[in-house]
Parts: sequence; C-alpha cells; structure tokens
Amino acid sequence: MAEKQKNIMEDIARDFIKHSLTMRYDICTCGQCKEDMVASALTTLPVENVPLQAVSASLIDETKLKYKAELARAMFNAIDMVSKNPSHKLTEDRIESFRLLLNNILEDRGLDFRQYNQGVIRRKVGYRMHMNGVSSYGEYARFLRKSPDEYEKMLEALCINVTEFFRDMEVWVTIRYLLETLINQKKLKGHNTLRIWSAGCSSGEEPYSLAIVLKELLKAGLKNFSFELYATDIDKKCLLMASDGVYPKNNLKNVEEKYLKSYFTLLGDGNYRIKEEIKNMVKFQYLDLIKQDFLRETDVIVCRNVFIYFNRELQEQLLKKFYFSLCPGGYLIKGKAETIINEASGYHFEDVDTNARIYRKLIPTDSLVK
Ligand SMILES: C[S@@+](CC[C@H](N)C(=O)[O-])C[C@H]1O[C@@H](n2cnc3c(N)ncnc32)[C@H](O)[C@@H]1O
Repeated sequence: MAEKQKNIMEDIARDFIKHSLTMRYDICTCGQCKEDMVASALTTLPVENVPLQAVSASLIDETKLKYKAELARAMFNAIDMVSKNPSHKLTEDRIESFRLLLNNILEDRGLDFRQYNQGVIRRKVGYRMHMNGVSSYGEYARFLRKSPDEYEKMLEALCINVTEFFRDMEVWVTIRYLLETLINQKKLKGHNTLRIWSAGCSSGEEPYSLAIVLKELLKAGLKNFSFELYATDIDKKCLLMASDGVYPKNNLKNVEEKYLKSYFTLLGDGNYRIKEEIKNMVKFQYLDLIKQDFLRETDVIVCRNVFIYFNRELQEQLLKKFYFSLCPGGYLIKGKAETIINEASGYHFEDVDTNARIYRKLIPTDSLVK
C-alpha cells in the first residue's frame, strides 16, 4: 500500500498566517479570510510532499529555510490580495474607521497623523490595541474617550521619540567639522552669530549634543562668537524632559568621558543632569512641523530621524519649508537612514556629505553654475 503523503507547505503557510496577523487590525483576520490566505499562497508555493510519518519540527524548519524568499513573497501577496477582496461582507470598514480615529486625534489634540507613514502609524496603534485587548479601531476610539491614560500612551507611541546623545557617533565628527568651518566663514565675513535649529528634538539629547560641540569650539579659541540654538518638537512631555535635562546612563553611552565630567552631574539615583551652562544655550519650544511656520534665517537645520515617519508628499512640503527657512548656503542635516527628495521638490540642495546626510541649500545662481 502506498505511503500517505502530506504537503507540509500547508502547515508552514498556516503557521506563517497565524504569526503575521497578530496585530493586523487594519485587515479582516477572521477564520474564513485566514483560510483564503493559506489557499491563495499555496497556489504559488512549491509543493513539498513528504510521508506522513516523516513530518517533524526539524523538517518543517529546514523547509522554511529552503523556501524563505518564496514563502515571504507568496504570503505577503496572499495577505494583500485576500484583505483587499475578502470573500464575505465586512462588518467594519477598517480603512474608514482608522481614518475616523486619526480625525478624532486631530480634533481632540490638534495632532495631525494623517500624512504620516500609515504603515508605521497602524503598527503603533495596533500595538496599543493589542496591549488593551481591543480588536477594532471603532472600539479603540471609544476606549480612548474613556481612558485619558491610554490616550497619552498612544500619543507617546505615535510620536516615536527614540533618541540619544551623539546618535550615530561617527556622523558627529563631520557635524563638528561643519560647524567649525561655518563659524570661520562667518567670522571672515564679519558676522558673529550662528543660528541652529534642531527640528524634532525629542527629549533634548540632540540639541544638547550640539551645544556641547559648540561649547568645545568656543573653548578651542572661537572668542566673540555667539550661538542661537533652537530645539522644537510636538511632544510636550518630551519638551518637559528636555527642559529638566536629566538622563539615564543608557542615553549617554556615546558621550566621551571628558564631556561627561565637564557637562553633567551624576545624581544619587544614577541618572545624569546636564549642567546649566549647556542647558542655557538651548531654547526649547513647541513647534508642529506640519502646521506651524518655520524659524527664519537659520544657518543649520538638524532634522534627524523625523522625516522617516512622514509620507512622501509631506516630506516634499517640509523640504520646501526648510529651504525657505535656511539662509542661502545654509545646511540641512538629516538622519543616517534618510535621503532628501531633491528632484521632486524643485528646491535644490547640494549633497555635501552622503554618509553624514548633510545637504547645502543651493541658491538659483549656484544651480546655474553647476
Ligand atoms: C525619532 S525622534 C528623533 C529625535 C532626534 N532628532 C534624533 O534623531 O535622535 C522623532 C521626533 O520627531 C517628533 N515629531 C514627530 N512629528 C512631528 C511634527 N509634526 N512636528 C515636530 N516634531 C515632530 C517626535 O515627537 C519625536 O520626538
């Protein structure tokens, strides 16, 4: 009698669906849709028939590894296809209820997340829903109304304010060099002020890192020169933390020992407080990059790890606003993983240092000469 065979791809696809749909509140994940997703994936996946008694955890792992790329592609396509065309009527229009949730946040708190990268925002909201055992956007919107604590937690999650002192350390060598060169150029022209803006400063680690660099440059002989260092964000809690200036050791791991000694005080609880001489160099203020006017006549804008959360259209709008905020020849510094959409904006920036993501505003004559 022939041995009974089993296509183990079916088990693998089912397992994949189970794990990848845990926090997908944006699509229907009912039993019927899950089955449709498995069936759809199996139409494009290779068949791996094995004798029934040979099926084991290690064989399943080996097969997953063997077809890693094919599996990812097939499952992604299946989830996408079934969720766009479910075989049954939906009880909730998830796109609409997500849109309403974002509208509510705008109305309640004046924060507009509609133009943020929607995948990122959905994942963050999904995580908060998961933590509260809520399974639809509509239910979550109602829950938020009753729970101010959860509202704060959700906003915190959406603002995504991860940061640290001298983030991406290697880039700071270039930033220091840039600031020194700029100051020398200014002095040659008889100017004695540099205006710097840290846009999306989170809890202050970035502007304070800038302040430390500037302080060191002053010490190194740049006399009679002053700085205006602005730092802005939409996260009020972060701005309060920034004004307080107390940080856990973990956020200071890139701070050189000599700076730690000169510019921080170790507190009894193991945290560090930034010294007044550095704190006084930074002016913190609330500024929503989407809704408010930008600072004027800035020499350097540091806007790192903020654009990654915005969609392309918003990035283009902000790039244009940064262009007008900068003085001719001013510099824009972006995050390590970010580029600027130059060609689309029409407001040109020259790539000064690709690795450090430093761009210089080109004035029209610069572009003609090039
Ligand atoms: C990942 S943090 C980046 C912090 C710092 N620039 C760095 O690179 O370490 C992103 C910051 O952007 C802020 N942000 C998000 N949307 C904003 C907006 N519309 N206007 C101003 N700041 C915004 C967030 O509140 C958050 O503090």
